[in-house]
Amino acid sequence: MSLKKRVAILISGRGSNMGALIEAARAPDYPAQIVGVFSNRAAAPGLDVARSEGIATASLAQSRFETRQAFDDALTAVLEEWDVDFICLAGFMRILTPSFTNHWLGRAINIHPSLLPAYKGLDTHARALADQVSEAGCTVHFVTPGLDEGPSIAQARVPVLSDDTPDTLAARVLEQEHLLYPEALRLLCAGDVTYRR
Ligand code: GRF
Repeated sequence: MSLKKRVAILISGRGSNMGALIEAARAPDYPAQIVGVFSNRAAAPGLDVARSEGIATASLAQSRFETRQAFDDALTAVLEEWDVDFICLAGFMRILTPSFTNHWLGRAINIHPSLLPAYKGLDTHARALADQVSEAGCTVHFVTPGLDEGPSIAQARVPVLSDDTPDTLAARVLEQEHLLYPEALRLLCAGDVTYRR
């Protein structure tokens, strides 16, 4: 019997962080297996990558649901069908209902491209550059009802260079995201990090 935790990844787009998690989970001693990838966009390129890895995928279109609650309930049904222990949001561009985040409290994590609590929300790199900060980075945190507000699990920092554009800074941060997310998921699945209110 496998002792690995069952993990689903939620994406909306290219899924490069998803790829980093799938790659990490190949290691025999990694404490998680990726059992499914879900997207709110059927055309998300990451879904093709997941399928090519033999991982189960699912997508639901918001247009099929009358309310956010109905969508999130359907998402929970998919995740329960996959019998997941933990959920990783990786570029999942959708606000989740408090009922969903409370149901999965302590079992859902997200990666955000800033040194939270700085720069919650979108356009983090452009905002950091406008403020002329000297350091940027990324954060893996627990998902709670408040957007990008849950307790931090791990952070990685990078320098901001004088000629950075949002794209060059994003690329430097993304390299760190691909290292940080697998490490944070490892901590969670190994029981070395737990959520406390
Ligand atoms: C990443 O920068 C992540 O931090 C943010 O959305 C982006 C997703 O990129 N939440 P990818 O789909 O993992 O390549």
